[in-house]
Amino acid sequence: MGATIGQPLLILFILFSFTSAQNNDYTFLRALKDAWQNTPPSWEDNSDPCSGWDGIRCTNGRVTSITLASMGLTGSLTGDIGQLSELQILDLSYNTGLTGPLVPAIGNLRKLTNLILVNCGFSGPLPDTLGNLENLIYMSLNSNRFTGSIPPSIGNIENLYWLDLADNRLSGSIPVSSGTTPGLDMLIHAKHFHFGRNMLTGPLPARLFSSNMTLIHLLFENNQLTGPIPSTLGLVKSLEVVRLDRNRLTGDIPSNINNLTGVFEMFLSNNRLTGPVPNLTGLGVLNYLDLSNNTFDESTVPSWFSTLQALTTLKMSNNNLVGVLPVNFFSIPQLQNVDLGGNQLNGTLNIGSTHSNQLQQVDLRNNQIGDFTQRSEYNIELILAGNPICMESGVTDKFCNLPTVTTSTYSTPPSNCVPTSCPSGQASSPNCQCSFPYTGNLFFRAPSFSDLGNTSVYESLRNAMMISFQRSQLPVDSVSVRNPMKNLDDYLVINLQVFPSGNDRFDRSGILGLGFSLSNQTFKPPAAFGTYFFIGENYDFLLGSSGSGKKSSNTGIVVGAAVGGCVLVVLLIVAGMYAFRQKGRAERATHESRPFALWDTTTGSGGVPQLKGAKAFSFEELSKCTNNFSETNNIGTGGYGMVYRGSLPNGQLIAIKRAKQGSTQGGLEFKTEIELLSRVHHKNLVSLVGFCFDQGEQMLVYEYIVNGTVKDSLSGRSGIRLDWTRRLRIALGAAKGLQYLHDLADPPIIHRDVKTNNILLDERLVAKVADFGLSKSLGDANRTHVTTQVKGTMGYMDPEYYMTQQLTEKSDVYSFGVVLLELITARSPIEKGKYIVREVRNAMDKSKELYNLHEVLDPTIGLSTQLKGLERFVDVSLRCVEETGSKRPTMSDVVKEIEGIMELAGLNPNAESAANSAGYDDGSRGSEHPYTNDSLFAYSGDHFPTKFDPK
Ligand SMILES: *[C@@H]1O[C@H](CO)[C@@H](O)[C@H](O)[C@H]1NC(C)=O
Ligand SMILES: *[C@@H]1O[C@H](CO)[C@@H](O)[C@H](O)[C@H]1NC(C)=O
Ligand SMILES: *[C@@H]1O[C@H](CO)[C@@H](O)[C@H](O)[C@H]1NC(C)=O
Ligand SMILES: *[C@@H]1O[C@H](CO)[C@@H](O)[C@H](O)[C@H]1NC(C)=O
Ligand SMILES: *[C@@H]1O[C@H](CO)[C@@H](O)[C@H](O)[C@H]1NC(C)=O
Repeated sequence: MGATIGQPLLILFILFSFTSAQNNDYTFLRALKDAWQNTPPSWEDNSDPCSGWDGIRCTNGRVTSITLASMGLTGSLTGDIGQLSELQILDLSYNTGLTGPLVPAIGNLRKLTNLILVNCGFSGPLPDTLGNLENLIYMSLNSNRFTGSIPPSIGNIENLYWLDLADNRLSGSIPVSSGTTPGLDMLIHAKHFHFGRNMLTGPLPARLFSSNMTLIHLLFENNQLTGPIPSTLGLVKSLEVVRLDRNRLTGDIPSNINNLTGVFEMFLSNNRLTGPVPNLTGLGVLNYLDLSNNTFDESTVPSWFSTLQALTTLKMSNNNLVGVLPVNFFSIPQLQNVDLGGNQLNGTLNIGSTHSNQLQQVDLRNNQIGDFTQRSEYNIELILAGNPICMESGVTDKFCNLPTVTTSTYSTPPSNCVPTSCPSGQASSPNCQCSFPYTGNLFFRAPSFSDLGNTSVYESLRNAMMISFQRSQLPVDSVSVRNPMKNLDDYLVINLQVFPSGNDRFDRSGILGLGFSLSNQTFKPPAAFGTYFFIGENYDFLLGSSGSGKKSSNTGIVVGAAVGGCVLVVLLIVAGMYAFRQKGRAERATHESRPFALWDTTTGSGGVPQLKGAKAFSFEELSKCTNNFSETNNIGTGGYGMVYRGSLPNGQLIAIKRAKQGSTQGGLEFKTEIELLSRVHHKNLVSLVGFCFDQGEQMLVYEYIVNGTVKDSLSGRSGIRLDWTRRLRIALGAAKGLQYLHDLADPPIIHRDVKTNNILLDERLVAKVADFGLSKSLGDANRTHVTTQVKGTMGYMDPEYYMTQQLTEKSDVYSFGVVLLELITARSPIEKGKYIVREVRNAMDKSKELYNLHEVLDPTIGLSTQLKGLERFVDVSLRCVEETGSKRPTMSDVVKEIEGIMELAGLNPNAESAANSAGYDDGSRGSEHPYTNDSLFAYSGDHFPTKFDPK
């Protein structure tokens, strides 16, 4: 029988979990949309994001990719992003109007492989949680305004291949691992370290490099690094490009750098390196070497230079070179560019008759050269200004002039057609069609050629790009590259124009596709160009040019209706199954805890605690799931001890409260507390999963609540934006949790420490009251109050309780009133000596709109016109904080009042999730989505259908 019922049930379950997850994604996507301006027109509120929203891709109804490069988005990235748990690709590049911090919630995206935020306006520190992105392969956060240091946790991203943090304002030293602290040296699969143009200080740690590293690009140019180049650098045999220029490195260059036989570009210029000129004969493929502006020992031009057969560019200006430049130096076959200015080279210059036929420029300014053998016949650009040869009176040789700075004006030529003059905003493509090109600049950080006049390299670049775009099926007619130049950082900058095919303008999907192709390095340039980054410009979309929105809104409604129909049936079945499963689970739990060998009978606690579902964990078990209570798993500290995050073998996340030595209770008290807590089950209360009473330890194991505290959200720390609607739902949820403790728990429980730090938000922003550590149950005999030592938190504490030491439920009501005021003001109860209760009372004028509270309201709560019911909310808050307990309402009064306010604000108080509110209560689909509410699973944490066993 199990089998016959089991089959169809399983199918329905899959359907259920599918639709519920999908709609969660929609909710959070809409919340993101709400925080952004200029989203594509196809992003209509009523349409299905998975079928029609530009830049969104889904798999099985879950959002797996968001690519919105160059959309002109403004706003901030809210913590809602952390809820899209199936997301694999996030590309928001080239939206300079996206500002604010990178929210820690980004670390929840465990499936993310590509995180690309090139050239946005993000600022603030990089969150530690980046280290949680265990599947990340490609991380490009370059060209933002990030500050602070590089989070060591990035070292945990085992499979990271590309790490680009360049062009920010990062400071501090380069993190390397030590003990249990991770560091960048652990990234042994990384090929690209791009850290240039920051403000990093300290040395290049020797530990950063090891023989098991596989780096090919090591770019630290333009920082403030000090100390010597560690000899361990020579261990990274895979290196191809090394840029350590523009730092403050000192000391000798270690000799084993000569072991880096694969390096073809090395920039060590503009440091304070000393000692002998390094022997680089081993670098057989080296073609670009810049050692300029260091203070090496005085030396003649090393004879081994001429053994570097691949060299195209040699720069060694300002470096104490003396003597005569040997003639064979110019016979290096591919030599193009030589800069040895500012040395003390003397004698007669002889470039020989067999010099490289590619030789373009030889800059020997400011040396001591007195003569030049080929004076009457040479065909290179030679600069001898500042040498004795040019100081004789009457010299008119061209080589005595300093070159006038010439920028190449190369531009992809028209292909057998005559360019037309185009209307404003448009440009003529290489095929002589007028259209609106997508433009931007390509920056090559280490091109291997220095002859910018060689047009064939640009042709190869253009061809490679066309082929790549065609492969990606992008609607591109042609590509033009223009105005190559070297900038002050020695990056080659090339302007790019990409012209649309078929139309005179790209649509949004075309632009975000092009943007992604360049931000994600899908396009790979010819080898001579090396690594690059692209900075795209805003594109001028024709308003309303994206026509897919209307169509998909219909499908959205149809899908919604169909899904809605199924849901009732499914819900009924789920409810049945849930009951069945809970029964099984309870039986299993009691069975498992019956032997209770762990319960320390020697302390006289005696007897098996009467547990409802709470599991007894051994110390080993908890130690294992917290990595030996490691530092990184420590998520909080309090007077009683520490809180650790952990993950059970079944995947459930837990929070472990571990009493420190000295604050453990007697065995009996502990047992009583567990019995009490294990009986408390409510969707607005954090559930106890189990406990540990083993090896002298006392620990409580709770379900882990992902979105942190309400306090973190109000302070902006979590990045979750709480609008008025969400705040109402949070207030209601927390109130219901407390009401349960007061009225329905048996015996009743007084929380004693109600505060925004003790109200957590789950993945759907449902409020859950936490921390019963201080809770007291009201014994039957003494129903009205208990006399205890005063405990609680300043600012939330009931003054009556404080004075009389008589604890009643009304003490929690007082604290909750403070929480309500904090919810609308986002101010701490006591801030700069001001008490929130008094501030609100003083600022209040009941005759004015919003009680004249504009000044004290949290600006992020929303527009004042949308704050329906705020006055009533203030009223109930102030009643809660009446001086005398008897004048305060009960929690159940408070619940009823908040429900009334929600109805006034047009919200359904019975829809649980605060997450629903953003952009969802729009009437057209109704504000109630029972299938998005999986509170039935609230206690379980693990996924329901997968483990169902019909036996
Ligand atoms: C790297 O190599 C060293 C020794 O060569 C070794 O001790 C270390 O465990 C290796 N690290 C990793 C992450 O494999
Ligand atoms: C690297 O260079 C050092 C010093 O030049 C040398 O002693 C060592 O043998 C080289 N190691 C390898 C693996 O080539
Ligand atoms: C440079 O190193 C090579 C070995 O890598 C050696 O044969 C050569 O003699 C050295 N040259 C000088 C000038 O030290
Ligand atoms: C060397 O330093 C001078 C003066 O600071 C600067 O003008 C020049 O560009 C530097 N040379 C190189 C190759 O960076
Ligand atoms: C060039 O300089 C070297 C070293 O400074 C010196 O020994 C030599 O005499 C000079 N040669 C000429 C021709 O000035």
